[in-house]
Formats: sequence, C-alpha cells, structure tokens
Amino acid sequence: MIRVVAPMAGITNAEFLNKVIPYGFDVATLGGYSLDAPTIDASRKIIERGRGEFDFPLNEIFSHIENEVDSIKKVHKGVKVSANVRATTTRPIIDVGNIRDLDIVEINCHCRQKEIMDIGCGQEMLNRQDLGDFISEVADNVDSEVSVKIRANVEGTDTLELAGLIEDAGADYLHIDAMRKGVFEADWKLLSEICNNVNIKVIGNNSVNSQANLQKMIDTGVDGFSIARSLISGKLDFDIAGF
Ligand SMILES: Cc1cc2nc3c(=O)[nH]c(=O)nc-3n(C[C@H](O)[C@H](O)[C@H](O)COP(=O)(O)O)c2cc1C
Repeated sequence: MIRVVAPMAGITNAEFLNKVIPYGFDVATLGGYSLDAPTIDASRKIIERGRGEFDFPLNEIFSHIENEVDSIKKVHKGVKVSANVRATTTRPIIDVGNIRDLDIVEINCHCRQKEIMDIGCGQEMLNRQDLGDFISEVADNVDSEVSVKIRANVEGTDTLELAGLIEDAGADYLHIDAMRKGVFEADWKLLSEICNNVNIKVIGNNSVNSQANLQKMIDTGVDGFSIARSLISGKLDFDIAGF
C-alpha cells in the first residue's frame, strides 16, 4: 500500500512534510505550485481574496522546488517526493519533472478555484480535448514518474473514461479525489469500479479521516491512499503504518 501526503496549497512545504512523514508516509507531495505567468497571476488573485496559496515568482519557483526536495531527502532518504503543479502549457511541468531528485511530477487537474479554471487549468483540464496529448508530452520528456490528480464526479465528465485516458497517455499514477457532491465520504463504489477497470496505479483520496474510512478506502482495491485535511494540524490521530 502506497501512503501519500496529499497536496495542500499554502501548507504542504518541506517543513510541514518533514513533520508528518514519520506517521508512516511513503510519498510526500509539495505544492500545488503555479509555474507560469498566467497561473502565478491567478494564484496572486486567490491570495488577494484571502485563500492560502504558495506564491513564488517565475525566476524563483524552480530553484525553490529543488531546495524543498533536498530539504526532505536530507531528513527522510527513503521517501518519494512529489510536486503538484499547475501551468497552461507542458514546458514548465516538464522542467519540474526533470528536477534532480524529484521522484514524481503531479499534473493538477483538480483545483476548482475560479481564477485557475478561468485560464483552463486545474479541474478545467478535464475538459481539454487534448488532455491525453498533454499528459503524454509530459510523460515522454521527464525523468520523474508522472501522476495526474483529478476530481471525480465532475459534471460533464465521465470519471471512468478519464481514468482510461490517463492510463493510455502513459501516466504512472492516477491520484483521484473521489468526492461526491453533498456527501461527506468518498465515492467508494466508483473507486472500486475504476480499480477493476484500469491497470495504472490508483491513489485514492478523500475522507480518509479515521481507521474505519481508511479500511473502506483499502477495500476498494486502490494501490495507495492519500490524506490532506486530517493532517492540517500537523498531527495524525489514527494509525496508517500497519497498512
Ligand atoms: C487547504 C487545502 C489546499 C489544497 N490544495 C490543493 C492543491 O494545491 N492541489 C491539489 O491537487 N489538491 C489540493 N487540495 C485537495 C487535497 O489534496 C485533497 O484532494 C482534498 O482535501 C480531499 O482529501 P482529504 O479528504 O484527505 O482532505 C487542497 C485541500 C485543502 C484542504
């Protein structure tokens, strides 16, 4: 079972990840980071209305990520480091995927902040006609593994079809926030269906906030799970190490 710290913009930096990795995580996700002028501009607008974001200028973001990776690897040698990123084109994502010692570059097709979606990024990526080509171009040109983080049950999209497209495009991981509108637990049924129909490694996400929900997540057949909100305090109050 692959145990992942999920990204939380404005929170999951190296200092935070170094504190929570000892709870038993195998993969630690930095970010989400904005990597080009349009996404950096969108991040700044989000900050202006009071929401947490990482804010690094274009001339610093790549060396910043490199330093953050080194800060984690220095302390936790066996842990894989992932970076969750947003950009309007593949080029900056490829540059992150080639950062020395970064294990996974994660394409953010998940963020639903209006400023990010208005420029075709985050969750809006799921509507791109060329999503498969976008992912393949990244996968074909990076030294790292590639993860694609998506949100399930987005209106107008077929999550199972998207899972197949992401697998065919050559990604290594499908990181799926299996949220269901109006429900406070992950869509366990959808996760099982996806796991039964694809061969890509599936990292299930959403509502792993207790031992009981962790068991439900594992029972869907996922290869791994990720946790975000239950870690915000910097402490995890249930055991993940035994899974
Ligand atoms: C404050 C906050 C910031 C987040 N930022 C990101 C992000 O930058 N990229 C991303 O893919 N998901 C982001 N997420 C979503 C989480 O990674 C995760 O998918 C979601 O919270 C559901 O998982 P959970 O039930 O374990 O919290 C964020 C979530 C929170 C609460």
